[in-house]
Amino acid sequence: MSHDNPTSLVDGFGRGHRDMRVSLTDRCSLRCTYCMPADFADWIPSAELLTTDELMTILEIATEDGIDEVRLTGGEPLLRPDVVDVVERIAALPKAPKLSITTNALRLAAQAAHLRDAGLERVNVSLDTLDRERFKKLTHRDRLDDVLAGLAAAQAAGLAPVKVNTVLMPGINDDEAIPMLRRALDEGWQLRFIEQMPLDAGGLWARDRMITAEDILAMLSEEFDLQPLEQRGTAPAEEFRVNGGPATVGIIASVTRPFCGTCDRLRITADGQLRNCLFARDETDLRAVLRDDHLDEAARRAEIRRRLHASVAAKLPGHGINDPTFIQPPRPMSAIGG
Ligand code: 5AD
Ligand code: SF4
Repeated sequence: MSHDNPTSLVDGFGRGHRDMRVSLTDRCSLRCTYCMPADFADWIPSAELLTTDELMTILEIATEDGIDEVRLTGGEPLLRPDVVDVVERIAALPKAPKLSITTNALRLAAQAAHLRDAGLERVNVSLDTLDRERFKKLTHRDRLDDVLAGLAAAQAAGLAPVKVNTVLMPGINDDEAIPMLRRALDEGWQLRFIEQMPLDAGGLWARDRMITAEDILAMLSEEFDLQPLEQRGTAPAEEFRVNGGPATVGIIASVTRPFCGTCDRLRITADGQLRNCLFARDETDLRAVLRDDHLDEAARRAEIRRRLHASVAAKLPGHGINDPTFIQPPRPMSAIGG
């Protein structure tokens, strides 16, 4: 990928940071078992969620210093009432970043065209099964048809390429690798399988009970010819050309083939905490600075910038999932943002 501007957000291992994942809310309309327990109730209090003005202050500074790609995440980002306005304001920044959203697509049919008009470029849709009963079991909601309608709406709106993220789990949907890829080829979705990571609020993840990249490649190879593509850059997905192309399939093997060495990502939680890794145990409080009445505007911006750079400087070389001493971060995925 080429970049117009150099980034000044360089960590102690020489990694330049350009990608900011912004969680717009921790609320979600689904209850995917690998993310939240069905009875999850530990929501961030509304008063602690960043306002859109506060978020824009952070993003203005981050884009001045080298962030050139923003991905909106959740929970479910489309549950934020002013999400179209958020998109419009990010697209209007002096240094407007590339802008995409990771969504469960339940509200996408209604919002795809508005989001595109506001300046959204792409969507990533999470979909783990094509079977209605399984979808119900996996997400605790009977909404598969809404997701499929959302995917179609995204394509009709030109939010291309539409990417679909799938997490395979043993005994639950691990027989769907081939059907998912068949369907993706038919529909023109760019499919990526994501290895399940230890981020669930229920603490259900187990290293020896996960479907690995190797398993997925073996399953897909029974039906498809897969040729690895080169030029991975900072992208987490390893891409494979399917049956000679042009279609590709990706595998994001965070656990068994970690890509921390090329990581260029930072995250902001919906309550204004900066995280330098999905698995970080420390966060940097930006909300406190945004709400500190003793600071004037210039001092506020300077302090946010200082904290942004300090967080980057303190970034660890890797997530350590494979170390015996690994401890899962205290927040679930829904509160961190994919
Ligand atoms: N492991 C892997 N992927 C996860 N996601 C959510 N929780 C996990 C997990 N524990 C995925 C969602 C979504 C993306 C943001 O992350 O399916 O596609
Ligand atoms: Fe919601 Fe995404 Fe978590 Fe599923 S993975 S419950 S869609 S936040």
